[in-house]
Amino acid sequence: MATITGAVTSSHVPAIGGAIAKGLQQDPYFNPFFAGFPPVHAWLAKAKPDVAVVFYNDHGLNFFLDKLPTFAIGAAPEYRNADEGWGIPTMRPFRGDPELSWHLIDRLVADEFDMTMCQEMLVDHALTLPMALLWPGGGECPVRIVPIAMNHVQHPLPSLSRSYRLGQAVGRALDAWDEDVRVVVLGTGGLSHQLDGQRAGFINKAFDLMCMEAIVDDPERLTRYSMPDLVREAGAQGTELMTWLAARGALTGRVSKVHSNYHIPISNTAAASMVLENEVSVEANA
Ligand SMILES: [Fe+2]
Repeated sequence: MATITGAVTSSHVPAIGGAIAKGLQQDPYFNPFFAGFPPVHAWLAKAKPDVAVVFYNDHGLNFFLDKLPTFAIGAAPEYRNADEGWGIPTMRPFRGDPELSWHLIDRLVADEFDMTMCQEMLVDHALTLPMALLWPGGGECPVRIVPIAMNHVQHPLPSLSRSYRLGQAVGRALDAWDEDVRVVVLGTGGLSHQLDGQRAGFINKAFDLMCMEAIVDDPERLTRYSMPDLVREAGAQGTELMTWLAARGALTGRVSKVHSNYHIPISNTAAASMVLENEVSVEANA
């Protein structure tokens, strides 16, 4: 069966891509965020994943308001990035894992998650930037990917509870995958932020820190926030927390926090990263 090694969560604001392109990782503005990643790299070197299942939200590159699936999964041999207008370099294509994708699709639909299946799929900064943070240098990415896009653009959004249950279903499907592969699960976005409207610039540090604590040992607590409550507490775009909860849901063993980093602000957002390890010998979520 597949081994779920753990989850890595990270912010994905486009400014991070600009900083990478300009080599500003040591810049005083950006360094407190980038300084959170050497421990992530050390953990990845031990975890040795072959595949990354990436929960993220497309911002209009592959899906737009005319056709916007609540949950979509890639089943392509390759995923390309494209210019989104942020002025950041387009990243090289990522290798897919169609066999694993179709296994996940079979299991998820059987589990009553009616996924949109994408045999072609562009991936935007919400996927590419966390990948560049986890595996820096610009070379070929050492892991294959299975992207899972979650609607964060047009209401009604999937609830935090539904997002967490999706992650749990992915975890069950990975446990049932008979290939001997090591998997890391990623959740990208957040934390609290609002980009426009009367509360533009809104950040809620106390709420973010509560979320980063609860997601380790008590993720069900977070699933009880409705979307209006979450928008009030975390800002309109803080709803990206859904991807963190999905990633947490996919951890089927005993979960412990290896590392976390939190910094305000990066481009008007509370920027954070975490590593959660999944001890697979214990079926904590069974
Ligand atoms: Fe975003």
